Amino acid sequence: FTAAAAAVALSFSASAAFAACDAGETVIKFSHVTNTDKHPKGIAATLLMDRVNAEMNGKACVEVFPNSTLYNDDQVLEALLNGDVQMAAPSLSKFEQFTKQFRIFDLPFMFKNIHAVDEFQSSATGQAMKESMTKRGLLGLAFWHNGMKQMSANVPLMLPSDADGLKFRVQNSEVLKAQMAAMGASPQPMAFSEVYGALQTGVVDGQENTWSNIFGQKFFEVQDGVTETDHGVIDYLVVTSTDFWDGLPSDVRDQLATILTEVTEARNGESTAVNAAAKQAILDAGGVVRTLNADQRAAWVEAMLPVWGQFVDGVGQDNIDAAQAINA
Ligand code: LMR
Repeated sequence: FTAAAAAVALSFSASAAFAACDAGETVIKFSHVTNTDKHPKGIAATLLMDRVNAEMNGKACVEVFPNSTLYNDDQVLEALLNGDVQMAAPSLSKFEQFTKQFRIFDLPFMFKNIHAVDEFQSSATGQAMKESMTKRGLLGLAFWHNGMKQMSANVPLMLPSDADGLKFRVQNSEVLKAQMAAMGASPQPMAFSEVYGALQTGVVDGQENTWSNIFGQKFFEVQDGVTETDHGVIDYLVVTSTDFWDGLPSDVRDQLATILTEVTEARNGESTAVNAAAKQAILDAGGVVRTLNADQRAAWVEAMLPVWGQFVDGVGQDNIDAAQAINA
């Protein structure tokens, strides 16, 4: 493999994102907000693009727009409904405006790890959630994993009381706002693309996210450290519009669905490893990671658990019970 061959391969793959669509092909614009490298969603979206463009050439092609270059998560669902993009994978927190059931994924300490999340999503209840927004024109196609959330701030966070009075960026979710309020912190909803700047300039003091997002957005560089709380989850719903999906020729729809299922299985199986690598990359870059002892962890659970009571009506006690049974 010569340097020249590598350069050709590189320019091919770099241009493939936008040069692959030929006249007559069904174009699928896939907009997302994360980086593409060392990130569960970024890697999965690129794999989906590469496979569709190779295996469905002449029929369909995917163009991925990462890094919020096209839309942020609040805009993208509207863009899907308008037909400006055809696929996206916003975090599950972004769907509460459509159905309160999705709030279960934001409830703190609801799932002990990503395997528990996977099992819940694979259950009849979880699978039905993909189709819970069709009346509003949105169809979920697959759940994609990221991983467990960690807390960071511009001061060391060992106990929830350390967050008292601090401003934390949250995704625009009522559950996450309540969770921060339960620590005595002030929640500040904000688009993902704005978080680094807000942390850097002190508009907010802290944030919560997965290792891959904390690494990919370099949040650790503008924080005192990251505390390994694993207190919640960030996962995604690959979503399309019912108009687009129903309008596809059935052979195109079936092949797309098959490729998406295979990409989902392959990449969901790697999400924990991708986040572990991102955590290691933070440490290698000189970032500070703090771990909790059992007492400290119990204090976080105690502070946050009352949040469940505020949202049980929309989430459903039966769903909470099902999630808890998986953890057991
Ligand atoms: C966030 O807004 O923090 C995340 O949902 C971003 C993402 O897509 O992982």
